Amino acid sequence: MSFIVAIDGPAGVGKGTIANLVAEKFGFLNVDTGAMYRSVTLAMLRQNIGIEEEEKIEKLLSEITIELKEENGEEVVLLNGEDVSEAIRTKEVNAFISGVSALRIVRNKMLEIQRKIAQGQEVVMEGRDIGSTVFPNADVKIYLDATVEERANRRLRQNKEKGIEMSYEEVLESVKKRDLIDSTREVSPLRKADDAILIDCTELSLEQLSNKVYEIIEEKMKK
Ligand code: DC
Repeated sequence: MSFIVAIDGPAGVGKGTIANLVAEKFGFLNVDTGAMYRSVTLAMLRQNIGIEEEEKIEKLLSEITIELKEENGEEVVLLNGEDVSEAIRTKEVNAFISGVSALRIVRNKMLEIQRKIAQGQEVVMEGRDIGSTVFPNADVKIYLDATVEERANRRLRQNKEKGIEMSYEEVLESVKKRDLIDSTREVSPLRKADDAILIDCTELSLEQLSNKVYEIIEEKMKK
């Protein structure tokens, strides 16, 4: 059976946390599309490929493999078989990623992989354009939002847990910058699909938010 839950929203809103909980509760496959864009960005940085070098990017995209796995309840991202789960979350990747994810060839490739992964599966997929572009017919579409200050705080806490050293100001600046680029890019910008359910989670606890999301999914599964 195929069942698709699309969770979109801006950086640091908590899409990953909610997607993990949904995957666990319903036994769905969890697909973090941001990790896929991050992996391409890391591969480009490592090979010194600039965003204007289309031929090199095309070659890179035809060669790399990106796999998302779960090990002991943790998401593991493999780039060409190497565990890059931490390497994809550095400042360098954050600074370069919006440029990379605005490229049509990169987006087309990711779209192809994302649609393939979900074929015949029950999945929860989180990103920026899942409900609007990747799966316009998704069974459930949720768009999470929160104020930029709250999102910066959440990212800061996440970074601390992962041992990433960044000040609040740095995180806030990086989130604001990504918001702007992600929502104004030409190809597949971050936007709420018309039929997505908007949840502002600025004031919601994780429990309140997850219960809300579970209810929406359960309601749809009954139909
Ligand atoms: O969710 P995240 O912060 O890991 O995403 C990293 C970047 O990837 C984000 O700034 C925009 C891009 N992205 C995208 O353009 N489309 C997606 N579906 C997911 C992420």
